[in-house]
Amino acid sequence: MRPEIQSLPASRIREVANAGIGRSDVLAFWFGESDEVTPATLRDAAVASLQAGETFYSHNLGLPELRQAIAAYTSRLHGAVDVDRIAVTSSGVNALMLAMQMLAGAGDEVVAVVPVWPNLTAQPAILGARVTRVPLRPQDGAWQLDLDELRAAVTPQTRVLLVNAPNNPTGWTLTRAEQQALLDHCRGTGTWILADEVYERLYFQGNGVAPSFLDIATPDDRLVVAHSFSKSFLMTGWRLGWLVLPSGHLDAMGKLIEFNTSCAPVFVQRGALAGLAIADDFVPGLVQRLQACRDRLVAGLQALPGVQVAPAPGGMYAFFRVQGQDDSLAFAKHLVTAHGLGLAPGVAFGPEGEGWLRWCFASRDPARLDQGLARLADALRL
Ligand SMILES: Cc1ncc(COP(=O)(O)O)c(C=O)c1O
Repeated sequence: MRPEIQSLPASRIREVANAGIGRSDVLAFWFGESDEVTPATLRDAAVASLQAGETFYSHNLGLPELRQAIAAYTSRLHGAVDVDRIAVTSSGVNALMLAMQMLAGAGDEVVAVVPVWPNLTAQPAILGARVTRVPLRPQDGAWQLDLDELRAAVTPQTRVLLVNAPNNPTGWTLTRAEQQALLDHCRGTGTWILADEVYERLYFQGNGVAPSFLDIATPDDRLVVAHSFSKSFLMTGWRLGWLVLPSGHLDAMGKLIEFNTSCAPVFVQRGALAGLAIADDFVPGLVQRLQACRDRLVAGLQALPGVQVAPAPGGMYAFFRVQGQDDSLAFAKHLVTAHGLGLAPGVAFGPEGEGWLRWCFASRDPARLDQGLARLADALRL
């Protein structure tokens, strides 16, 4: 086995979840998904596709009508994006892996803004690239980027700058000015930007769409944007995403998709097409529900003594720390075994997250959050 694979860390979130296995009384907030089922119109479209016999291999790059609909959706949010820049992928994580395969190989340097969802930094490591971590830092519970530190880390030797904003787990989001500064810098160093913008619609400020690199880049910039149907359309189990590529890169991506998954399932794509058709009605309502969950949870956390947390501008997580609890894995395991509260340990997102805990607040029934808060309050009284 290649040493890169042998040395991959196992998921610390799974480690905590395994400690609660077989217990039906655990309130689980550890994974990054809502407990709301996918809207019925999307499920109906997928069922209709299967009933119609759409069970065959399909285009490498996705159904032309889905790619067209994604291009139209993206253009509505960010200004004109041509369909010749859109590739449909088998999930967001697959989109990110395909992009990394296209951009970085053994010995290449990748700079990543961290803490971050661990899959992002594992992917270049799998490919044999070296990952340099540039940390966000908390100020009163809210996480900030040191732009000068990041610019100093990205040099002409840097192949890829990996940035996830809105960020999982912290909720940190790049400002437009920071995006412009990074784009200008990367144009100078010749570095690709791989932007993970899967949470762009789960954004609680302004017009409800987080600033995107697509707003400011040209079609010829070295920019790849990764997206997912998982979060904004409640489609986590369906495994569908997409990439926005620079002009002229679609044929290469089609080959990579052929050698990875060959194509995404047609019935899944039909569900997504139905999702895009209702996006303008559905997504704002979802975000409103999420914001109510966020506000309820963060207010509850802030009321507990010794808890440090700030409302995140985007995403679906409260990232918080409890005074005196510096070992997040041990604390998360204690919370699940002794109190039936399932949270993700901050160290799962890198050493920068040590001492913190992530709570996914995407819940159909906000009363579950109150129950979870009561369990945490119990734990803190010990
Ligand atoms: C930051 C980030 N990017 C990408 C993904 C990928 O989502 P999926 O593979 O479900 O499309 C996730 C999922 O949790 C995520 O948190």
